[in-house]
Amino acid sequence: MTQKTTLVHLQSEIESSLTGLVKDHRPDELYDSVRYVISGGGKRLRPVLLLLSAKIFDVSIKRAMPLGLAVELIHNFSLVHDDIMDHADSRRGRKTVHVLWGIDTAILCGDVLLALASECISQASDSNQSHLTRVYGTMIRELCEGQALDMHIGLKPDLTTDDYLHMVDGKTGGLISASLEMGGIIGNVSSETCMVLREAGKSIGRAFQILDDLLDLVADDHRWGKVQGGDLIEGKGTYLLAESRLRSKGKDAEFFAKIRPGDGLSPDEIPVARSKMEALGVLYNARQQVQNYTNDALTKIKSISGNTEELEALITDMAQRIY
Ligand code: IPE
Ligand code: IPE
Ligand code: MG
Ligand code: MG
Ligand code: MG
Repeated sequence: MTQKTTLVHLQSEIESSLTGLVKDHRPDELYDSVRYVISGGGKRLRPVLLLLSAKIFDVSIKRAMPLGLAVELIHNFSLVHDDIMDHADSRRGRKTVHVLWGIDTAILCGDVLLALASECISQASDSNQSHLTRVYGTMIRELCEGQALDMHIGLKPDLTTDDYLHMVDGKTGGLISASLEMGGIIGNVSSETCMVLREAGKSIGRAFQILDDLLDLVADDHRWGKVQGGDLIEGKGTYLLAESRLRSKGKDAEFFAKIRPGDGLSPDEIPVARSKMEALGVLYNARQQVQNYTNDALTKIKSISGNTEELEALITDMAQRIY
């Protein structure tokens, strides 16, 4: 199979397993929103990373799938709650859960996705169950810690790139690291290999989030599915804003210093912000950082013994994504 067919094949296996999980659950007052989230598409990258990691260690898709479903469900739980926190109206090209069903149902929808993930973890029936459960718990804790930092980081006038990366290692890296590591755990790898997988995951998380921040401003593919310039409108502490604050002087520095959570730009100011960022070299720098962190991840993955080619190809493709 070519890389593209492997990806499509894994994505469709994940899709049908996810749909099967909640088709008979009641009450509809809750599960209509859950089924809406699950059927909304999404790239399914975290379970694919997990399945390809497991494959390096000769673990079948069937055996690794419950873990893949767990990480995708946790990802979706985090998105439903993230959209409440970010006041986001659209996701995957559709209205968000809290817009359609209200905040109360959206909180419960996220909670139930988390519960379903825990059930999937218990189905892994692996001799390393307690290790898997620990990594699973750490992943959720890191995600919440990163999201907590995310709420406040934009308020720091002296926001540094290190502050930003610390937040991203939690909110984005936690889940990606755990996805790669669980693939290793189920394949009975050594603790050294677990560590390499985890570290590679953190680098992928950085590349992934910096690119997400960049695409938030520049994506022009309809599959992006989120509000264009949404981070600047919300005043989020993104990579682009941190770098712009560091690089700008005079009137431009005042312009970027003003952008705060709850006091972001209006939609008509977005093109102005974009050209200032372009002129400061921030957009170019962001692309370079995506490539640097991707290269770090690839170096780590190549150091693992086994056939790592498919996983490497996916990591390379993730850095080129346009949505
Ligand atoms: C969005 O993740 C959240 C971030 C960590 C930036 P994805 O871009 O993987 O979202 P879906 O699942 O494909 O919609
Ligand atoms: C990452 O941050 C999301 C989570 C950890 C849930 P973002 O807030 O940038 O994600 P998007 O852009 O809404 O998908
Ligand atoms: Mg968001
Ligand atoms: Mg967010
Ligand atoms: Mg984003």
